[in-house]
Amino acid sequence: MIESKNPCPEERITKSGMRRFLTDERLKNVICLECVDSTNNYLKKHEFENAPDGLTVVSNFQTAGRGRSGRSFLSPDGKGIYMSMLVRPECSPSEAIPITACVAVAVADAVNRICGVTPGIKWVNDLVLNRKKICGILTELLLNSDGSIKYIIVGIGLNVSEKSDDFPEDIRGIASSLLAQTGTLFSGTELVCGIISSLDRMRNDWLKNKSKYLDFYRNHCVTVGNDVSVISGSASRRAFAEGINDDFSLRVRYTDGSTENLSCGEVSVRGLYGYV
Ligand code: BTN
Repeated sequence: MIESKNPCPEERITKSGMRRFLTDERLKNVICLECVDSTNNYLKKHEFENAPDGLTVVSNFQTAGRGRSGRSFLSPDGKGIYMSMLVRPECSPSEAIPITACVAVAVADAVNRICGVTPGIKWVNDLVLNRKKICGILTELLLNSDGSIKYIIVGIGLNVSEKSDDFPEDIRGIASSLLAQTGTLFSGTELVCGIISSLDRMRNDWLKNKSKYLDFYRNHCVTVGNDVSVISGSASRRAFAEGINDDFSLRVRYTDGSTENLSCGEVSVRGLYGYV
């Protein structure tokens, strides 16, 4: 069992609790809810036309949490971090592609600072501990009619205090939580504030300081060096994950010797032997 850096009793995440970790100025742009269908939907629905870069919604519970590829994201009451941040980067849509990977780095860094364990990153943006998924990230981009970015919503779901039998049987082998993997109950309030601070730093420097994110990503990507299945629509091909390119794409070698650079968003990659 890992030594506790920050054990705590179970708690609700509230704005007043967040005051221990974030300034009043920062909290002006944080909305904290008890329950919502999905924090990503909330930001979209409220059509925050003039909402500032960095506006954040946090909820203790989601009734319809969404994952990638139309999947749902299990969001039990009081057991995880469910949050979304609005990002308005000054770049083109193609320059924004690495944002998903950079968010994974920012969240992994926050978990490391607060919990003393560094999650691995399963390409593109799942965080894993001991080969089990503890966090998923859903990035959604909206364009203006001229093709420029209107906003990006970055949604993060981090499993904090689920016990292994809180997960449905069909995902128990691949999903887990910080508590189940470390034996420690960490403070949801401290984690959500740590993630907000990490994402604030990231919003400020990911476009200027790409190599910092790339280095961390390469050092922590658990997909590289493994046999994988590359899934595109209904087709699936076996490959070996060779490395991360400078644009965060994944370089794979197929069994016939040919290689391909996989760009996030186009395909998904599943471990052939276990989740990573
Ligand atoms: C995935 O694993 O496929 C991505 C999961 C993303 C879940 C988060 S929880 C907060 C935000 N709101 C949602 O509905 N989804 C994201």
